[in-house]
Amino acid sequence: MPLICYVNGEFVPAERAAVSAFDHGFLYGDGIFESLTVSDGRIFKLGEHLDRLEKSARALRLALPENRDRLAGIVKEAVRRSGARDVYVRIVVSRGAGYPLLDPRVTTGPSLVVLLHPPTPPAETGSSYRARGAGLRLKTAAVRKVPAEAFEPRVKSLNYLNNVLARIEAIESGHDEAILLDMRGFVAEAAGENIFVVSAGRLKTPRAQQVLDGITRRTVLDLARRAELPSEETDLTLYDLYTADECFLTSSFSRIHAVAEVDGRPIPAPGPITQQLRRQILELERSEGELILAGGTP
Ligand SMILES: Cc1ncc(COP(=O)(O)O)c(C=O)c1O
Repeated sequence: MPLICYVNGEFVPAERAAVSAFDHGFLYGDGIFESLTVSDGRIFKLGEHLDRLEKSARALRLALPENRDRLAGIVKEAVRRSGARDVYVRIVVSRGAGYPLLDPRVTTGPSLVVLLHPPTPPAETGSSYRARGAGLRLKTAAVRKVPAEAFEPRVKSLNYLNNVLARIEAIESGHDEAILLDMRGFVAEAAGENIFVVSAGRLKTPRAQQVLDGITRRTVLDLARRAELPSEETDLTLYDLYTADECFLTSSFSRIHAVAEVDGRPIPAPGPITQQLRRQILELERSEGELILAGGTP
């Protein structure tokens, strides 16, 4: 059964999901997005993703084309029509199609696209990222995180060029993922995930104001509080990563992914706290994820 996507008012098979070449999302990266998951028929943290989408839209003066309930309804409907119990969802809102000019007044109105895609990329692409169960090998990228003074990192926008360049650096040197430093030289985040270390029984991660305020990041901090595991949002240096007892990345895409090496320095992986948090988050998905596809585990 083909995956069904939604494009500007219509549900269409994935291979026919297309927007205009005049769309300002395509021309200027003028738009926002969210990525989330459906596992065993349950959608996880849809409300939080819609909260962040609304905030990103407000920050960019972008009017969402649908209200929150309708957006949630479209996402669930696409999953139901696809009959897909394990699938990834991407919500994309752009400024819309119009004359190619840096002036939002020329667009006809925002585009809304909901894409569904399988949890792993096709094997023939050679992308190995998801397969590294034992632990990722990271490399610090030369390219830096765009500073908050230039663009607010909490906006999940369609501008990912720094992150793409960082990922290319990592791949070309035989690594799985890149770490971006901020302009001060402190660790910011990975190209597509937030970063955590465990050091002397303490969980540490960079402050949300300097990175994407990840929903998985927040979930992990919450799980740590519940487990009375001390945690701290603080500046981290590369030395903190190199000497960590454990290190892991978080994202809706990969949940919690252990890190086995940073810039050639091995880190024990997966460590006990990483494994415990991973178990807890998967359990949370089962217990708190909203069942949207009949036939899922009750
Ligand atoms: C740059 C960046 N940081 C962090 C994350 C993790 O965020 P979340 O846990 O909300 O998926 C992502 C996810 O797409 C990301 O692109």
